[in-house]
Formats: sequence, C-alpha cells, structure tokens
Amino acid sequence: YSLQRLNTFGITANAAAYVRITSQAELQAALQDPALSAMPRLILGGGSNIVLTGDFPGAVLHMATRGMRLAQADFETILVTAAAGENWHDFVQWTLAQGVGGLENLSLIPGTVGAAPIQNIGAYGVEIKDYLHSVSVMHSASGIVFDMDRDACRFAYRDSIFKQADGRELIVLEVTFALPAEWQPNLRYAELAQAVAERHLAEPTPQQVAETVMAIRRRKLPDPAVIGNAGSFFKNPVVSREQCLALLERFPTLVHHAQADGTEKLAAGWLIDQCGWKGKNLGPAGVYPKQALVLVNNGGARGADITRLAKAIQDDVEAKYGVRLSPEPVFV
Ligand code: EPU
Repeated sequence: YSLQRLNTFGITANAAAYVRITSQAELQAALQDPALSAMPRLILGGGSNIVLTGDFPGAVLHMATRGMRLAQADFETILVTAAAGENWHDFVQWTLAQGVGGLENLSLIPGTVGAAPIQNIGAYGVEIKDYLHSVSVMHSASGIVFDMDRDACRFAYRDSIFKQADGRELIVLEVTFALPAEWQPNLRYAELAQAVAERHLAEPTPQQVAETVMAIRRRKLPDPAVIGNAGSFFKNPVVSREQCLALLERFPTLVHHAQADGTEKLAAGWLIDQCGWKGKNLGPAGVYPKQALVLVNNGGARGADITRLAKAIQDDVEAKYGVRLSPEPVFV
C-alpha cells in the first residue's frame, strides 16, 4: 500500500497493510485482528511530522474519525472537543466560527487533532498544553478507553508522554480544550505583535489574529501540497545560560530567548542559516530558501536523502557552535 500521499514530505514508501479508521469500533477491531496485530503498527494522522526511512513492514492505522462539539463548562470556560481524525486547522477555524478564541495563533499548522498532543504543537507564543483540558485515549493492548488530564500528558516543548516508552501504547481518540469565554489576544511573539500592529487593528478579533498568523506562515513556510516538507525539521535547542553567554562572546548576533527556568532557547533556523545551508540542496533534498529550519523534498527524495541532509546540517552546526540539533519529526 503506497504511503506517498499519506506523508507531507511526499516520500515514496509502502506499508504491508493499511486500515482507515472511522470509528472507535473499527479501531478496536483492527487492534484485535490476529493478522494485523502480528505485525508492527503505525498510527497515522496527517503524516505531517514523519520521515519514512523505507517501506513499513507492518500495518498503518489511519485515524479518520470525525466530530467536533462545544459545551459551556461554566461562566469562564468553554470546552471544545474534536475527534482525532479532524484536520487541525479546520478545527481551529471551526472554534473561531463558533465565536470562541484561544487557538487562533495555532492556525494553519498541518496535521490532525489526534497528532497535536503527541508533540505538543506550538506557534507564535502558544502551545496546545496552554489550553488542553484532557485527551481521551485507548490503550492498544487492552482496548481500555480513559481520559488523561493535562498533567498526565507530561507536556514539554514539542514533547509529551505519547512520545515516551510508557505512552507508546496509547492511541489518541479525542482531544478537549478549555477555552476562555473572555478572550484576550496573545501577542507575546514579537513577529505576530508587529504584524497585527501593521494592520492598525485597535482591538483585533480572534479571526483577525488568525488571518495574520496565516499570512505570516504563508510567507515563510512551504505549503506541503506544493512542496514536500514536515514543518520545522529541528527543535530549537535549549542550552544553559553559561553556554549561551559563551556563544554570545564569539557570535554577538546569536538569536536566543530566555526560558522561565533560566535556560536559553536558541533559534535553530538562525544557526543553520549562519552555516550557509539556507536554499542549499543535497541531491533531491533541500533547505527551504525562506526558512532554514524547514527541509524540503524537491522531488523524488527518499528517507535516506532527507536523513543525509539532516546529518550534514547537524554536523556543521555542531562543528561551529558546539550544539547538536535534534530532529523534530518521528523517523519511521
Ligand atoms: N532565522 C534565521 N534564518 C532562518 C530562519 C530563522 O535567521 O532561515 C531566525 C529568525 O530571524 C528569528 C529566529 O531565527 O530571529 C526564529 O525564527 P522564527 O521566528 O521563524 O521561528 P522558528 O524558531 O524558526 C518556531 C517553531 C515553529 C513556529 C514558529 C513560530 C520550532 C522548532 N519551530 O520556528 O514551529 O511556527 O517558531 O512560533 O519550535 C514546527 O514546529 O513545525 C513549526 C513550524
């Protein structure tokens, strides 16, 4: 079964088996199927955060469940829930159309609702953990369904329990967000604040903030439907304050942001850019000319081409700055 249309990098690879899951019952049946459960399993959402390094000798369970609902929890809070298979951006736009703000900074992030908690998606000063209420999951070995609250998900920067060994058996069914009835724009991210200011909006609405985010993203990030990619390919590395100060002595224009815990987050895109990689290609894989943090498939790239380019970048950045970049997508 070809996976090419199921991964936004557009990498050519096949799976031994494929099942489209449109209900909890179908998921349960697939998990209990003796033939399918004898093979490795890959739960797939939008395929926007994976690198297929070869054919997958197992079963792909493609989460395609639908459904979105909204409930007023109390005077302050509105609970919105969506099924794992819903498209993330469409879900965000639906919440805005219901008159509920909070998720607008996360507009246009590729992928599905079910994949969003796995890497705690974030952009423009917001991460989903900021608004996440609970995640409904199925334990794949037992079929048991239960809810996990935000703390149980152990969210961190582009990380959660679902990426760790003890969370690998959990399949996300639904995600619920607690959104504020009294909305305030989150303009802590300087680039967004500036773009909103340029539009001369005295009191921007959630929809207007969403439009501004979309305009910024369209300017800098390649549309996976046009050019294969998986968003940011590397995480922004977090270093100690001492290491950051030492780097600043040698590289005064280093882009860094102090974290609440005293560490410093460096801009991986800046490091890669400074190493001269922006717009460069290595075979069919390349570095996007408008954003050095995004690796692209210029056509016909296999997983090995992407990995080779990624390693060359990691080696160069490490040689120059002493920092090893970690990839953000999951390698399959
Ligand atoms: N920069 C360069 N050259 C480049 C790219 C960036 O010098 O080619 C500099 C920029 O000038 C800026 C800094 O690096 O000073 C940071 O760049 P930017 O604001 O574009 O954000 P980013 O760190 O590259 C992160 C997230 C994005 C998210 C944006 C906006 C990660 C790994 N990436 O990117 O998330 O949309 O901030 O909040 O945290 C994703 O995870 O897939 C993703 C796209």
